[in-house]
Amino acid sequence: PAAPRINPSILAADFVNMQAELARIATADFAHVDVMDNHFVPNLTFGPQMVERIQATSPIPLDVHLMITDPERWAPGYAELGAASVTFHLEATTDPVGLARTLRGIGARAGVAIKPGTAGEPLYDILDEFDQILVMTVEPGFGGQGFMPETMPKLRALADEAKRRGSDVWLQVDGGISDATIGQAAAAGADTFVAGSAVYGAHDIEAAVTRLRGLARA
Ligand code: DX5
Ligand code: ZN
Repeated sequence: PAAPRINPSILAADFVNMQAELARIATADFAHVDVMDNHFVPNLTFGPQMVERIQATSPIPLDVHLMITDPERWAPGYAELGAASVTFHLEATTDPVGLARTLRGIGARAGVAIKPGTAGEPLYDILDEFDQILVMTVEPGFGGQGFMPETMPKLRALADEAKRRGSDVWLQVDGGISDATIGQAAAAGADTFVAGSAVYGAHDIEAAVTRLRGLARA
């Protein structure tokens, strides 16, 4: 899908009505799937067995965001079950390039995520190893938190660096993205936008996705 991409986070969906909740986001670009292990983050969601069913049910491709320790052990399985992209945290691995190559070898887009306090510079020389970089705009772990504008200079610097190197890496933001904040993130260089509460909290989800896309373009 072309930029700007809107990826609703199913963390904000009704977990026991997942089939219907996935159908509601059919006009969005990717279903963003937050896997949490109560170790890397202080919250727990679901694992590969659930995501396999989500993959089989979703009308749109999956964008899996792993907020887990030991991603070497788990990330390949999400690529194998058919997720379009698998993103692990830079803070959780000592070999981000090796893991990205493994994911690409299985056929998934490889993503690396950084928390608000993690610098972007270590990624500059390895940008080509990734298909997408996720700049967290809240501390990972929970939906419904406030957007952190102080992460925007880091995003802008990553966007400048990608441009300078002629890289086509996607730049994603996640956390507190809404009608009020998506414009700032787009202006700083994001092309892919995760939104949980702003999408699932809307009365008309299709209209909310269209509106967010328009605001990201403006
Ligand atoms: C937070 C998750 C996000 C979350 C975003 O740790 O990674 O994907 O669902 O939710 P909102 O859009 O409500 O901030
Ligand atoms: Zn996420």
